[in-house]
Amino acid sequence: MGLTRVNGMLFGGDYTPEQWDLATWDEDVALMREAGVTMVTLPVFGWARLNPAPGEYTFDWLDDILDRLAAAEIAVDLATATASPPAWLVRAHPEILPVTAAGVRLEFGSRQHYCPTSATFRAATVELAGAVAARYADHPALALWHISNEYGDHITECFCDSCATAFRAWLLRRYGTLEALNHAWGTAFWSQRYDDIAHIEPPRLAPGPVNPTQSLDWRRFCSDALLECFELEKAAIRVHSDLPVTTNFMSMMRELDYWKWADAEDVVSDDAYPDPADVDAPWQAALNYDLMRSLADGPWLLLEHAISAVSWREVNVPKRPDQSFCHSLQTVARGADGVMFFQWRASRAGAEKFHSALLPHGGTGSRGWAATLRLGRALKDLAPVVGTRNAEHVAILMDWDNWWALEGNDHPSTRMQWLDTVRSWYEPLWRRHLTVRFVRPGADLTGLPLLLVPNAYLTTTDTATWLADYAAAGGTVVVGAFSGVVDESDHVHPGAHPGPLRELLGVQVDEFWPIPDGERRAVYFADGRRAQALTWHEWVEPEGAQVRATVADGDLAGRPALTRNAVAEGAAWYVPARFADLGEVLAEVLVEVGIQSLPPGWQVPDGVEFTLRLGADGARFAHLVNHTRGAVTVQAAGTDLLTGTRHDGKLTMAPESVAVLVLDEP
Ligand code: GAL
Repeated sequence: MGLTRVNGMLFGGDYTPEQWDLATWDEDVALMREAGVTMVTLPVFGWARLNPAPGEYTFDWLDDILDRLAAAEIAVDLATATASPPAWLVRAHPEILPVTAAGVRLEFGSRQHYCPTSATFRAATVELAGAVAARYADHPALALWHISNEYGDHITECFCDSCATAFRAWLLRRYGTLEALNHAWGTAFWSQRYDDIAHIEPPRLAPGPVNPTQSLDWRRFCSDALLECFELEKAAIRVHSDLPVTTNFMSMMRELDYWKWADAEDVVSDDAYPDPADVDAPWQAALNYDLMRSLADGPWLLLEHAISAVSWREVNVPKRPDQSFCHSLQTVARGADGVMFFQWRASRAGAEKFHSALLPHGGTGSRGWAATLRLGRALKDLAPVVGTRNAEHVAILMDWDNWWALEGNDHPSTRMQWLDTVRSWYEPLWRRHLTVRFVRPGADLTGLPLLLVPNAYLTTTDTATWLADYAAAGGTVVVGAFSGVVDESDHVHPGAHPGPLRELLGVQVDEFWPIPDGERRAVYFADGRRAQALTWHEWVEPEGAQVRATVADGDLAGRPALTRNAVAEGAAWYVPARFADLGEVLAEVLVEVGIQSLPPGWQVPDGVEFTLRLGADGARFAHLVNHTRGAVTVQAAGTDLLTGTRHDGKLTMAPESVAVLVLDEP
């Protein structure tokens, strides 16, 4: 991950010392030491305190706490403090407040209230980031720069005039001419032609559906506009410091193209808040962590999660102590080299006073504090895992352009959403203990025999060629429904669906046929197994592909529900229906591809998560997380890093427990 200034697994959290008096600071630092905290993040929302008036800086308090932390050998993830502009700046320049699609300017009084393209806001952030960097570049506590906070949280887009101007400039850079833009946006339809760039506005609230390509470009622009804010602050830091920079991601987030963002930062970090009341949270969280590891191309940093309850859901259920332990160590299992929290000490005032913290309101006598101490000890024991890389078995295509286009308006069904789709493909993999690497279009797939494409509604011809080359070279590709439909401008590919994927998949799709809500269609596999489809199926005509499953009832009875096309050395499967359990389909593919994730002789029951982290020196760390509320027996062998116990072939895991087995030399 590249944090040269801290050893071992990172442990700590967001720290807001500006809420507390000096006596509390003393206690904080002492208790951080007791808990084994190695890094804290501050001052994320410190702008008003650091910069109380134009050009005026009050660094004394930050100097003081950073010196205390350095003396206690606690590293700092130092925030540029730019996430929430202070009242004086907002009142002097109200135009920095964001505007909604309906034209409402949002008020001061919450947080992250800024227009991403405001020149005034950007200049102020660059000034503050530069001042912070100049002052602390050589501070011994400094390990990592933390730019802003959760870009896209609260404000993902702003529809003000400044954004309109920036959008026009962005469009001119993309298209060069108005003619090219008119073509890309298909403005010949509905009298939308533009003869003057100044007539183009953001997709503000309009009487009916907004031009879909305008909306798609708007999403691209909004992601880029926030990324520019990040880049500007990073440049201000780079004048003074070469230490790594990060900004905390928000898991599988639609609004930001994290491939681009990850390219721009040194450390990929994530804020993850799995809901303890949701039984599906473990595998859904696993998906997010696989994405983070893929973005990082290796170890990543969990920069925020909750030791118990959050305060922003409608119902905020706490975590059982063992569940909390599992949630935290699950991130290490999936490649995190640090486990950090929001926040260190529970607030007594403000919007997040009911959010759990490493040091709860009840102090060191609370069960929460006991959970903190336990986790701190475990993370210390896991130091040997730091820097190791996860074994990965299956690739999944992840493309933000496609996500945005898929969820555009006026499609055959609004039920085709990316997150639901990718989750339905991911869950059966998780249950089979297969670790996923998410890949962007065109990625190097060496060593990955199977590429899943849950959806590629937007498929460029380059992407289609990349998929075809992969299959021709021996890869197996599985493509989900409603793919190969449009190009990068959201224009339907010429000819029959699935456009540039037609030859690869060996099928033609005559018509998309959504299934009404609440209805299901029976599907029969060629080998006699039965399954069900819901939400979506298609009128498919095979063009060389072999039919492996068939719709058995309804309008499309007799049409293919699953096909396989032999392609040179490899194969291309098409899944033109949404299966109630995609495991039925993937089981068939996995048998053919023959991927084995568990070490020979191992058996890991459902509900127990398995991953393997591999050291450059050949060390192997098998992570087992029993997310179930019952004891389970696992067939496995190795020495548990957390307990020191040696297991020879059989291991009984307590309900909601974790084992990290060091495997013997192969
Ligand atoms: C994050 C945010 C933190 C805190 C946390 C609470 O989204 O970055 O500042 O609000 O949520 O769960």
